[in-house]
Amino acid sequence: MKKQVRICMLGAGRVGRLHSGTITRYISDATVTALVDPAESILQETGKDFGIETQFTSFEEALDKALFDAVVITTPTFTHRDLAVLAAEQGKHIFLEKPMALNLAKCDDIIAAAEKSGVILQMGFMRRSDPDFMAAVERIQTGEIGEPTMIKTLTHGPGLPPAWANDIRTSNGMLAEVTSHDFDTIRWLMGSNIERIYVETANFKGAERGATAKHFYDNMFATMKLESGALGNISGVCPCDYGYDARAEVIGKKGIMIIGEMKGQAVTVTVNRDQGLVTPIYRRWPERFAWAYINEIQHFVECVLTGSTPRVTGEDGRWAVAGVLAGTKSFLEERPVYLKEVLEADNPAPWLAGN
Ligand SMILES: NC(=O)c1ccc[n+]([C@@H]2O[C@H](COP(=O)([O-])OP(=O)(O)OC[C@H]3O[C@@H](n4cnc5c(N)ncnc54)[C@H](O)[C@@H]3O)[C@@H](O)[C@H]2O)c1
Repeated sequence: MKKQVRICMLGAGRVGRLHSGTITRYISDATVTALVDPAESILQETGKDFGIETQFTSFEEALDKALFDAVVITTPTFTHRDLAVLAAEQGKHIFLEKPMALNLAKCDDIIAAAEKSGVILQMGFMRRSDPDFMAAVERIQTGEIGEPTMIKTLTHGPGLPPAWANDIRTSNGMLAEVTSHDFDTIRWLMGSNIERIYVETANFKGAERGATAKHFYDNMFATMKLESGALGNISGVCPCDYGYDARAEVIGKKGIMIIGEMKGQAVTVTVNRDQGLVTPIYRRWPERFAWAYINEIQHFVECVLTGSTPRVTGEDGRWAVAGVLAGTKSFLEERPVYLKEVLEADNPAPWLAGN
């Protein structure tokens, strides 16, 4: 029998369900041998739906009683540091959902613990495993559109994320929970770090949706200058209600590349010549990035089996967190912020609870 990577799932919520389904249905070299979530009804429901019988309400109990080689961490961001460090100390390989952690010191703790134990640390930036985005970066690197001079990216999510993710004090808000993918995409596609960022935010639906946290915003727009001299922007809307929308446009000295589209299925229908064609769009992120979620877990399992370095590392996770912190500082202080201001600060995110 082929060697199996035994995985303990930490978190059985939205993404825990997604990755549990991916591993049990599509990854032949891996088995989920334990599922952990302190919320018992969520634990039981996900366990039942994916046939995972070994369930625990704490990671410590799973470490004590179950056998596994790796963890897939899909818990709220404020728990990432402690769970990932404990996993590394116990010699478990780590797949960690974005955002890596709430601040840079916590990112550093995770990176140091993984390095010390020699375990694999892969970040859950699934766009790096998406066939469209992967093809795009390859074509940019071969020079097809010339030197990249500008990038525009957007992520618009249909519904409000869980309550903990709406409050900048517990999550760094939408910049982290929704558009940290864009921060990573920009560095990856443009081959450059961000130098300076200016962010505007607005709140149109918070009150009607019960999102009452101070500084809650549901629309954001970031403008930035990269170290390469190129320009970039990110638009984020959540909840946008109309569907899931994640696209990017890269302008180069020779041309333009457009990545992604809203249209979600190859089938279009008309039954009414006045209404015209009905073209389905992506409804949610699991649909848009279905292959990316499978590919990223397959890649993680291969890295564990072969000891190779993952395509998205802890350093990549840390850079995205730095962008999020600079962006948050920018809209709170109503000014452009240099990344070095957060990279060099003792306390770069004073708005975080417990800081
Ligand atoms: N890559 C993506 O496309 C994507 C999409 C959405 C969310 N995320 C990220 O995934 C993470 C989880 O988001 P979500 O939407 O699934 O949240 P969620 O609230 O739906 O689920 C999180 C689960 O973790 C459980 N949990 C809390 N503390 C725990 C602990 N110590 N041990 C085990 N379980 C614990 C909670 O009870 C909950 O069931 C976040 O970091 C989020 O940013 C990634």
